[in-house]
Amino acid sequence: MQIPLCYKVMSHLPPLPDEYVQYALDTVASRKIPKTPDQHIPEQNPISEVFFKRNGETLMARGNPRYSLEPFFNDWINDNITEEWNQIGVANSILFDESPNYTGDSYCSSLHSDKTRSYALFYVIAQSNSDQETVFWKEHNKSIYRKRATIATDQKNLEKIDSVVCPMKTWVFINTSILHSAENIRGTRTVVHVSLDCDPFGVFVK
Ligand SMILES: [Fe+2]
Repeated sequence: MQIPLCYKVMSHLPPLPDEYVQYALDTVASRKIPKTPDQHIPEQNPISEVFFKRNGETLMARGNPRYSLEPFFNDWINDNITEEWNQIGVANSILFDESPNYTGDSYCSSLHSDKTRSYALFYVIAQSNSDQETVFWKEHNKSIYRKRATIATDQKNLEKIDSVVCPMKTWVFINTSILHSAENIRGTRTVVHVSLDCDPFGVFVK
C-alpha cells in the first residue's frame, strides 16, 4: 500500500509572536471549561461524548472544543502564513470527567476525520507532556481519505500508518481528511488551529 504524506513540519513558517500566544491562552482560560456536553456549547466543534473500542475495551474520547481567535489573528495570519484559511481558533483538550459515562482512562481524542476542513495547521502552545502524538490511521477496505466527520468506533479495524509528535510553537500541516487521533494526552493540550479547505503550500496537492 502506498502511504501518502499525512503531515509536514513547517519549520520555515514564522512563530506566533508572544502576544498572540497569550491571547490564545487567555481565550481558553476565559471560557468555562465544559465538563459534560450539556453544560456549554462552544462556538466551533460542538462537543459530544464519543466512545470507541481499543483492545476490546470501550473508552471515552477526550473532547477538543475550539474557540475562535478571529478577528485578532486575521491580519497576522494573512501576512505571515496564508490568506487561504477558513477558520482560526484555539482548541483545548478536555475530559468529560463529571459525566456518569466517563471511563476514567481518556488519554486520546476520537479516531476521526475533521468536520469543518480538509487541512489544518497546528501550533502547540501548551502541553502537559512532550510525548503527545498525532496518529494517522487507515481503515481496512476503505480509502485513506475519508468523508468529513467520519468517526471510527473500533481500533481493530484500523492500521496505524504514521504519527508525529508536534514540536511546541512550530507550525505542523496536517491532512485532516485522513483518520487521525491525538494520543497520550496526560493533562493539557492547547493548540492554535488554522483551518484550510485548500493546500496553499503544495505539500499534499502539488
Ligand atoms: Fe481532527
